Amino acid sequence: MMLEIKDVKKRFEDHMVLDGISLDVNKGDVVAILGPSGSGKTTFLRCLNFLERADSGQMFFEGTRYDLNTAKKSEITALRRKTAFVFQSYNLFLNKNVLDNVMLGLTLGSKIRKQDAREIAVEALRKVGMAERLTSYPSQLSGGQQQRVAIARGLALRPDIIFFDEPTSALDPELIGEVLSVMRQLAEEGMTMLVVTHEMEFARNVSNKVLFMENGHVVESGPSHDFFNHPASSRSLEFVNSLSNFA
Ligand SMILES: Nc1ncnc2c1ncn2[C@@H]1O[C@H](COP(=O)(O)OP(=O)(O)OP(=O)(O)O)[C@@H](O)[C@H]1O
Ligand SMILES: [Mg+2]
Repeated sequence: MMLEIKDVKKRFEDHMVLDGISLDVNKGDVVAILGPSGSGKTTFLRCLNFLERADSGQMFFEGTRYDLNTAKKSEITALRRKTAFVFQSYNLFLNKNVLDNVMLGLTLGSKIRKQDAREIAVEALRKVGMAERLTSYPSQLSGGQQQRVAIARGLALRPDIIFFDEPTSALDPELIGEVLSVMRQLAEEGMTMLVVTHEMEFARNVSNKVLFMENGHVVESGPSHDFFNHPASSRSLEFVNSLSNFA
């Protein structure tokens, strides 16, 4: 097991947002995290990377134990070296070009040689089909292109796992496909990914596991094939049907 997440709890004031979420992730898994708005998906991902402090919960990642409530800064730094996070909003530096945006994560606080960082960055940009746009600025790119640069920025760090929080939901419909196809390619190459998404075709065809949440609880968790073809609960079935109609 690459990542074992146990019983994550988080409340905002009197609102229990995560009420005991657990998940097992093997190397190469693509986990689609599904659920209605407000079910806690973003909060869950943020707790795993300590962008948010859980009230309680454990995580075992590549043999190391992390307490999601009490982990120290040094532990968090070590964890973040092996993980990458891709947000709905790309969070690129607008005053830096594509190459610099991707190189920045490599050179900041690291002794890597500039030339080496450049090579790694260009390779990551090639992977997402953006190697021709090294000197463009974010404002000169479409949303889909900006998100692909953001993915390259994560890839350049050579993470063992990538967390995506609705990476395509800010995009115009015609730009969604190019980002999903980059993600599909990463999945095919064996990258381990946790993906919060409303893209049911992606969840159905690319993910191998589903975590379906509602009101801070896990409704169903297991192989994607089972979730989509014979969901275990009537709530899952209702959710799958509502989304199929939507698409
Ligand atoms: N910083 C915060 N302070 C108070 N409440 C919060 C905070 N962040 C999230 N919440 C609440 O926690 C609940 C879960 O939010 P979260 O963003 O995790 O949901 P989500 O499943 O990602 O929803 P969506 O699909 O809309 O992105 C919501 O009711 C939200 O209002
Ligand atoms: Mg969210």
